[in-house]
Amino acid sequence: MPDAPVGTGLILGIESSCDETAAAVVRRGTETLSNVVASQIALHAEFGGVVPELASREHLRNIVPVVRAAIAEAGIRLQDLDAIAVTRGPGLAGALLVGITYAKALAFGLSKPLIAINHLEGHIHAVLMDHAQALTEGNPEAPILALVVSGGHTHLYLAHQRSSGQGSAWLYRNIGRTVDDAAGEAFDKVAKLLGLGYPGGPWIDHLAPHGNPRAIPFTFSPIKHRNPAPETETRFDFSFSGIKTAVLRYTQSHTMQRTIENRRFTTRDHKLTTENTTHLIENGTLEPQTLDLLASFQHAVIGNLLKQTFAAARHFNAHAILVSGGVAANSELRRRFTADALRYKLPIAFPSLALSTDNAAMIAAAAWPKLMAKDFAPDELTATPQLRLG
Ligand code: KG4
Ligand code: ZN
Repeated sequence: MPDAPVGTGLILGIESSCDETAAAVVRRGTETLSNVVASQIALHAEFGGVVPELASREHLRNIVPVVRAAIAEAGIRLQDLDAIAVTRGPGLAGALLVGITYAKALAFGLSKPLIAINHLEGHIHAVLMDHAQALTEGNPEAPILALVVSGGHTHLYLAHQRSSGQGSAWLYRNIGRTVDDAAGEAFDKVAKLLGLGYPGGPWIDHLAPHGNPRAIPFTFSPIKHRNPAPETETRFDFSFSGIKTAVLRYTQSHTMQRTIENRRFTTRDHKLTTENTTHLIENGTLEPQTLDLLASFQHAVIGNLLKQTFAAARHFNAHAILVSGGVAANSELRRRFTADALRYKLPIAFPSLALSTDNAAMIAAAAWPKLMAKDFAPDELTATPQLRLG
């Protein structure tokens, strides 16, 4: 195993867990020199979701040019790197393997250490890399509540920093997760069943302000656990498959199918832009009933995320909140979380919009404390599709 010189502080991050091939160079966990993302959204859009085999093949095609671009944009040479970091899981097995195999070969060829990163820890560091100081001000070891909310995940973690002679490591404890669909998955499925484009989250975010969020009162029932947690452990879990079914039932009982099928046909060729959506609203492709349904759905989902997060923050006496993952890009989410954080006098932070969705800067940032602690990946590192955090 090569030693870690920590000379330049430069880490190359590689991310390929789902449908983005990404590489980035970050110095000392905070300074982003480059952040390159090759998105496969257009490829998967016609299937309305990620097709694993297509994703792996596309990662294979993209990995070399994406890493080259990240190194070139950073204005460095591969030899200048102190380490290479790669997403180990969770994610699609074939997709993860492309990044891992390439990172391993690169680390071996350059005699640089390889660092394995949990994708979920990466999402948390997408916020910490810019806001760690503001969130831990005055009490660097106090717990922060992290909501990671994306297309594949909805998790609540208590995160805290523990300092040692080797720098400071971040430790995580899971205190909530979805028992079925992830919040982003619900956004995508509801958008699809209403005949909107993929991914659905940005479409709904864009259209919801045109509808009445109180038109349809969606509710969330208490969660039934198949294996209940021990009584000593209070959980703040989520469930989003019920609301998706409720939206479907609503469309059936209000005979909206024909309008939806017509719309599916029209939106297929429309990119999500303000001009396009204004046009679709004005020509009646997006009629008030659908806009009210979208607004009510989004209002209910964000309300549920808000309720669980702030209840957990109170229960565990969290000193700050961070929200990350694709759904953290949502404007209503940012507005309502910021307002409640102000009310409860809790510092709150979100990633920049570019770092909300999958990227490799967050992977390189999460690797920095591990480089300091010489926490390197074993030679036999492989993909762990169901990897958990905390
Ligand atoms: O973090 P991400 O890129 O990939 C995963 O790890 O899943 O998140 C993608 C998810 C998709 O479900 C997408 O619909 C959702 O994030 N998303 C949004 C918004 N932008 C992306 N959901 C709601 N509002 C948005 N503005
Ligand atoms: Zn992600």
